[in-house]
Amino acid sequence: MKNNYSKSLILLIVFTICFIYNSIAQEWVVPENKKKKTSSFKFSPTTISDGEAIFIKSCQSCHGTPGKGNFALLNPSPGDPSTEKFQNQLDGDLFFKLTTGRGLMPSFKNLLKEEDRWKLVSYIRSFNNKYIQPPLSAPSTGCKGCTTNVELIFLKDSSKIILKAIGSLNGINVPISEAEVSLFVKRYFGDMQIGKTVNTDSAGTYTFNIPNNIHGDSIGNLIFITRITDEKFFGETQDTIQMQIGIPINKPPLNDERAMWNVVKKAPLWLMISYTTVVLIVISCILYVIFQLFRFKRKSRIKKS
Ligand code: HEC
Repeated sequence: MKNNYSKSLILLIVFTICFIYNSIAQEWVVPENKKKKTSSFKFSPTTISDGEAIFIKSCQSCHGTPGKGNFALLNPSPGDPSTEKFQNQLDGDLFFKLTTGRGLMPSFKNLLKEEDRWKLVSYIRSFNNKYIQPPLSAPSTGCKGCTTNVELIFLKDSSKIILKAIGSLNGINVPISEAEVSLFVKRYFGDMQIGKTVNTDSAGTYTFNIPNNIHGDSIGNLIFITRITDEKFFGETQDTIQMQIGIPINKPPLNDERAMWNVVKKAPLWLMISYTTVVLIVISCILYVIFQLFRFKRKSRIKKS
């Protein structure tokens, strides 16, 4: 009896741990800077009805009609947008989740304009009569029709690189804020990213700290490349600078005798000879078999006639 009791206790503990683990694993963490994001326009009956039209087209198949609880039975559950599970979150949370998606929830980043994604938030909020819209944020200067330029500036003696994103329209320059940018170092094959993908601030800049342990060429040269990642809004643009701040490394050039892929120049003579011999033997065996097959065919034809 006592044994049974402790067995069920252990089972209970295991189940509890599994349950807690499952709920932690399912928690959808939104980065701090994305949580704070707010819409750049006031929510109104117009934005709500625009949002409703988009919702019916793009979301209803899974989330159902808000307030009716008729969402699709998926795991994790999409849920009903009118419920507290949605409404207790910040606008930035909702916007981030519908922008990036996760698992069965699609990412709408490239499917819907930023404005339309905020209209969806406005529609979702229309089911919460306690909702008060937080202060608007400055509209992101995704500069329509602009030619965008990124520029890298190296701060001497500080191992920092400042990135500046500027758009120009009819000769007028404006800083591009909220643009997604990344910094890379050029390597033989592809580029290595330094730090994370970040967003430019209101002055259109971002300061990258450069680690001091990156391997450069024989005199420590590094080539830095920056790109605006959300090309859809800002066009394809990049800048490159070269700086002598890496650790000097004597790498063999690609055509060097000792380079990894220079197999022929590196291989010792005995290996080349034995390899070639084996290949020749294999090829002659195959040829012999083919030859025999032909002979066999010819003989059988002669017999028949
Ligand atoms: C193919 C099905 C599907 C479609 C279409 C879909 N969603 Fe989802 N959505 C889900 C699922 C499944 C989840 C739960 C994801 C998770 O927790 O990992 C989810 C989660 C969410 C969340 C986060 C909910 C929470 O509890 O944190 C929001 C917000 C959301 N969806 C909004 C939308 C909006 C707005 C649209 C339309 C533009 C949409 N979804 C379209 C399936 C879908």
